[in-house]
Amino acid sequence: MVNKLSRKLLDPLVEQPLDIQGFEQPRALLNRIPEDLTPLLDLVQRPVVSATQFNRQQLLQLARLASRYETQPQLTVRPLTGKIMISAFYEPSTRTRLSFESAWHRLGGDIMSITDPASTGIAKGESLHDIGEMLNHYGDLVVLRESNENAVYEMLETLRIPIVNGGNGTDEHPTQAMADIYALLKWRPALCDPEIDTGERIRLAIIGVPGQMRTVRSLLILMSQFAPAFEEVVIITDETSPFAEGQREELEKAGLRFRVTGDMNAELPTLDVVYINTIAWVGDDYKELGTRYRLDGSSPLKPGAVILHPLARGSELARELDTTAHNWYFAQARGAVFMRMALLSTILKTFA
Ligand code: CP
Repeated sequence: MVNKLSRKLLDPLVEQPLDIQGFEQPRALLNRIPEDLTPLLDLVQRPVVSATQFNRQQLLQLARLASRYETQPQLTVRPLTGKIMISAFYEPSTRTRLSFESAWHRLGGDIMSITDPASTGIAKGESLHDIGEMLNHYGDLVVLRESNENAVYEMLETLRIPIVNGGNGTDEHPTQAMADIYALLKWRPALCDPEIDTGERIRLAIIGVPGQMRTVRSLLILMSQFAPAFEEVVIITDETSPFAEGQREELEKAGLRFRVTGDMNAELPTLDVVYINTIAWVGDDYKELGTRYRLDGSSPLKPGAVILHPLARGSELARELDTTAHNWYFAQARGAVFMRMALLSTILKTFA
């Protein structure tokens, strides 16, 4: 460890080629998706609470805009100069808070950040209604993460500025799902096309619990906008009832085809995409589900298969996979900044 560390300290930090899967792919989206900003107009000054608010055209245009921000950062003219984002995170977060803040900063805006409920009137029993009323006067947009799934709806009642749901309990995490879709589109740009050849259809598995994990719930909703592209969605879980009431039926009505199994290794050799997550927020704390499933260097992954993970990870995803071509989870986390830039500049109508 000492030797490794001293080498790190002695070597100059030279710019190295970015060794992240998917780094070159945003250019493919620019060519594949014809620009049409019209569908985005319906998102201007609107709150974002649920993945159900987005249609396929909006997702494609947001991905196109994100790929513009990703490939041409020098062309970003700081359109949010003078605008203030209130970043209210009442539950721990690494990626969502920091990538929203990075996105807003890159667009030129300023930020007020709440990272501890005890530092606001909530500690004195103040209601979210009243806090929402105050925030109207202090900023131009709120991003809220709260363990209580109703909190975003309570604040919405008094807010006159847009709010973006940064994760509400076990309910939804719509912008994480947008980042997931952006990663999928970059990996397989054919997903952008209205028709997909049968041979190009994707076999995707979720190692997780759709009824209890907000990231999975929102992702499946967005995937239903691209339903014909998925040959089958395999849910790998040891839960006997992995779906919430009516969830599977609704997604099937939208065109997704599901199969549920507990045998991960039997499925891995035929899967193109493996999405894994163990964390579910329940009440004021998180619980880990499906911890008997683990991906590591010995897992029988199909050559060319990609792994997605919303992170944070535990032991379910071995670090030895980080240096393999299966690792798309870092690209997924990196791309979240650009997808959030696209969404924020759309809501504030500064995208043109
Ligand atoms: N993916 C995600 O929501 O990560 P954080 O909890 O770190 O924000």
